[in-house]
Amino acid sequence: MSNQVTLTINDREIKAGKGNKLLWVALENDIYIPHLCAIKEEPRPNASCRLCFVEIEGRDKPVTSCSTEVEEGMVVKTRSERVDRLVKTGFELLLSDHNLDCRNCPANRSCSLQVIAKKCGLKLRHQRFTPIERDYELDDSPAEFALDRSRCVRCGQCVWADRNEAKAGVLGFKNRGIDRIVTSFNDQPLADLGCNSCAHCVDACPVGALYYKQKA
Ligand code: SF4
Ligand code: SF4
Ligand code: FES
Repeated sequence: MSNQVTLTINDREIKAGKGNKLLWVALENDIYIPHLCAIKEEPRPNASCRLCFVEIEGRDKPVTSCSTEVEEGMVVKTRSERVDRLVKTGFELLLSDHNLDCRNCPANRSCSLQVIAKKCGLKLRHQRFTPIERDYELDDSPAEFALDRSRCVRCGQCVWADRNEAKAGVLGFKNRGIDRIVTSFNDQPLADLGCNSCAHCVDACPVGALYYKQKA
């Protein structure tokens, strides 16, 4: 039995390994789908950012491509009215809880939110949803980097890197829903928990929440 399937994405015929997730197959074939929380090595994606929607022929509503496996004969569209509406709403909600100040952000010009806005034709500014006021304390205890939660998009990339690459177990999440936020044990400063500034988490952060001090 073949380990490959043939599917169509945006009218292009594509071959992919069985079991692969649609998001990565599209990206590897230069077909852009917005995404923040997907981790290729993670077999059970949490699909939390709600940005990677696509339409699949025969399914009654859009699905998240990071959690959907490719199938033989699948016909996929990465854009449609419904997909665009979902992505726009997800993006605007995300920005409503984000300290949006690109000019003074260390991630300016290398930020995934900027890429998503550009590629999807979205505006990088607060729109329908009233911005949420937060009062997060900056954690600049590690020698090389800092964590500014006001720019965190809760993607989980740092937590995954901290556990699986650094094997440190310093980072995690607390609270649920809109109040979910990346944290450390007992909210202690990262340096007090044995963080040795290996910076795997910083390299994984797609925005300006975890950043090198020298860039700020
Ligand atoms: S994280 Fe990105 S979108 Fe947010 S302020 Fe920084 S550069 Fe701008
Ligand atoms: S700090 Fe960065 S990598 Fe970690 S959850 Fe927030 S945005 Fe994602
Ligand atoms: S990348 Fe799929 S939900 Fe975030």
